[in-house]
Amino acid sequence: MERSEEMYAERVRSLAPADEPERQYYFIDVMKSVLAEKESRIGRKLTMNVVTFGCQMNAKDSETFSGILSAIGYEETDSEDADLVLYNTCTVRENANTRVYGRIGYLGNLKKKNPDKRIILCGCMMQEPQAVEKIRKSYRFVDVIFGTHNIYKLAELLFEREVGGELVIDVWDKATGIVEDLPRRNKYGFKAGINIMYGCNNFCSYCIVPYVRGRERSRSAADIVAEAEHLAENGVREVMLLGQNVNSYGKNTPDGITFAQLLHMVSKVDGIRRIRFMTPHPKDLSDELIEEIAANDKVCKHVHLPLQSGSTAVLKAMNRHYTKEQYLALVEKIKERIPGVAVTTDIIVGFPGETEEDFAETVDVVRKAGFMAAYTFLYSKRTGTPAAKMEGQVPDDVAGERFKRLLDAVGEVSAREAQVYEGSMADVLCEEYKAKEGLMTGRLDNNLLVHFPCDETLLGEIVRVELKTCKGFYYLGERCE
Ligand code: SAH
Ligand code: SF4
Ligand code: F3S
Repeated sequence: MERSEEMYAERVRSLAPADEPERQYYFIDVMKSVLAEKESRIGRKLTMNVVTFGCQMNAKDSETFSGILSAIGYEETDSEDADLVLYNTCTVRENANTRVYGRIGYLGNLKKKNPDKRIILCGCMMQEPQAVEKIRKSYRFVDVIFGTHNIYKLAELLFEREVGGELVIDVWDKATGIVEDLPRRNKYGFKAGINIMYGCNNFCSYCIVPYVRGRERSRSAADIVAEAEHLAENGVREVMLLGQNVNSYGKNTPDGITFAQLLHMVSKVDGIRRIRFMTPHPKDLSDELIEEIAANDKVCKHVHLPLQSGSTAVLKAMNRHYTKEQYLALVEKIKERIPGVAVTTDIIVGFPGETEEDFAETVDVVRKAGFMAAYTFLYSKRTGTPAAKMEGQVPDDVAGERFKRLLDAVGEVSAREAQVYEGSMADVLCEEYKAKEGLMTGRLDNNLLVHFPCDETLLGEIVRVELKTCKGFYYLGERCE
């Protein structure tokens, strides 16, 4: 850095407020003028592209990144040709990482043609020191790396990159507080995610999330309700409350509000018509929650209840804290108390030590529980988790073959579950319009999808649709006037 630049940087830093989020609004302002200067030098508007690789919580963080970058003055595009590309990474399975590495290489080629391009990597994968080391060595063109605990600092880190002229790395090994009131740019106008808690304390033996997202922290109910109100005022009709295990919401907050009570509070917000949530853990889903879902018209009749395995022995090795029988009894109770509910799940195939008998138990649960949908994953070994060191790692071909059989069972069961609605009417939220086909994709309260002809103006509205033909996991329908 030249002397004058260094003095400028020092002066900017010394004037920055210490408190958050004020500090970040200050750096957003500073970056606004840095960007304006660049734009006048280059002679055009600069663009940005935010790419999400992970789960809904990752997607939610991406809305904060889009919000901060828009506030700085970048125009959002959907192409990686943009002047700033941010990859919000995921590391839950190995293939998530592989995808990211391949695409960073591609970004490097684009940067050769546009030296002003900025490449930002953040998210769960960046919490892993090996990943950061590999990028530092092999992908030297990257500009900023940060993790999951300081996402609010994006503007400040960009400033440091601009004044320092080299790679900025800022990865924290744990979270400090929760920073509220950052800018956000909602991807859809009519539905939005709301984080109710961060991190996870469950340490399922296969899972990396607790290591990269840190310990459980709940937001205050007042902040959550205020966010829902703000979203509703801006046209949002459906909110999804997000947490790695929503059942433990409020365990560490002074007001001790339970998740069921929180659902109730959010449902009082005017303008919010539908509430979804993810994910409740089967080990501690309360009767209070079941009653709230059953009694509250705004809470969608859909429970995503990750099974992971149907074998009690495997569940124990996974550290899931429930048995096959307890899981099945819970599904039965949910279906009995919440008429019309859809239960969906996640399943892992090929966990270390899984035998053919264990796998048969999983298929048995799939058939007995009657899932409307199941997301199936091949077990992926994550370094640093207890399962990575377990004996009896299942060979790829054995796991692959079980995976196919599981898909068949899931397909059969979910088609049967979905079929029962054929010929009935349902309220659907219009979520996506395909102009070419003139088809709207809507979602039922129970999360089933339906495609039906109509015009684009209904996007974001809740309309009544007749479910004409069941196509397995979705419907073709017709709007009832
Ligand atoms: N907190 C949620 C979901 C976390 S990750 C829960 O407890 O269910 C989403 C899904 O990814 C998990 O439900 C699990 O099925 C899958 N998953 C997590 N770690 C995995 C691994 N190492 N290999 C394969 N699938 C995994
Ligand atoms: Fe991972 Fe288990 Fe936590 Fe879910 S509950 S994020 S699977 S450790
Ligand atoms: Fe992936 Fe992180 Fe979510 S590892 S699944 S993006 S919490």
